Amino acid sequence: MSKEIVLSGIRSTGNLHLGNYYGALRKFVKIQDDYDCRFFIADLHALTTNPDPNDLHANVKKILAEYLAAGIDPDKATIFIQSDVPEIAEMYLLLNMHVGIGELMRTTSFKDKARKALGISAPAEGDDDEAFEKQIIGSETNKRVNAGLLTYPTLMAVDILIQKATKVPVGKDQLQHLELTRRFARRFNSFYGVDYFPEPYDFDFGGAPVKVPGLDGSGKMGKSEGNCIYLVDDPKVLRKKVMRAVTDEGPQTPNSPMSEPVANLFSLLELTSTPDVVKHFRDAYADCSIRYGDLKKQLAEDILAVTTPIRDRVNDILADDDYLRRVVKQGAEKARESAARTLADVREIMGIRKF
Ligand code: TYM
Repeated sequence: MSKEIVLSGIRSTGNLHLGNYYGALRKFVKIQDDYDCRFFIADLHALTTNPDPNDLHANVKKILAEYLAAGIDPDKATIFIQSDVPEIAEMYLLLNMHVGIGELMRTTSFKDKARKALGISAPAEGDDDEAFEKQIIGSETNKRVNAGLLTYPTLMAVDILIQKATKVPVGKDQLQHLELTRRFARRFNSFYGVDYFPEPYDFDFGGAPVKVPGLDGSGKMGKSEGNCIYLVDDPKVLRKKVMRAVTDEGPQTPNSPMSEPVANLFSLLELTSTPDVVKHFRDAYADCSIRYGDLKKQLAEDILAVTTPIRDRVNDILADDDYLRRVVKQGAEKARESAARTLADVREIMGIRKF
């Protein structure tokens, strides 16, 4: 029996951080033996934020090396670069004919990125978004909110659907995009009266989708938040970042509720440390004996235990251009084979036929 198809990607916007690792990369490595895995570097998605061309190329190479250093094996999984598969760009055009601009404008990631680009703050809870939409349409600076940013979910849906993937290992922040992908697949199937695209779901092996917090008090770890712990961070730098994590004055009464910054530290501890260690600090918090400095020291060492083997391998891999070229060439060939088949079917279904 053929294996189920798993697909996921990471944008090439810089080094990989702990959010990428726990939300995506760690799962990639775990499942590569048991599924037909296709992992790619989303360089076309990275273009939505208009990077410098030199940065884009260097970042693709960095992510490729970090994929390999983390243990993705190109003999088990297909590793490719999104822009090496031109079929994706054509199908993106075709699928966009079935995507509404209203639903794209309501996507959380679009609203966040557009707000950031225009320098406007998020509306208070319950405010309607009409004013925001007017600002985007009417703004003289709206060239900063480009159409690629708006149609980002279409491109992501195409990445998944063109490979006919059913399992997509991603972090919590990508779940809305997956929901849209399912909606687009259903819409396509029902518009053309076909049972063509399978519906893809996130893949967390029965666990809950992960959101890795930042150490700056609130929110998630992310490049645009400037709060990342990178897999390749030097131990000194990494320790410093962890030791500077925001906390509070400490629990004053037994079993008091945790503030968000402290809860975030515990979330990271849960991801990186053993259950014993987590229990030790939870008990210490509950009886007010906790010293945040001790917790941070432990957390930094446990993070380093995860990142050090990756960091140790990455430079050798980066230096081996021939190897990297071979990996992506082989990956592109495999990814294009299945993408070309889907695209030919989609063209046929939509009525684009040869004379
Ligand atoms: P990107 O590049 O923002 O992030 C890559 C992966 O890392 C996860 N992630 C996190 N998970 C938990 N906590 C965090 N703080 C955190 N930060 C990032 C993301 O959820 C993601 O899984 N649109 C995607 C790339 C993409 C894609 C696809 C993914 C393009 N096409 C098709 C899957 C399938 C993105 O921007 O990820």
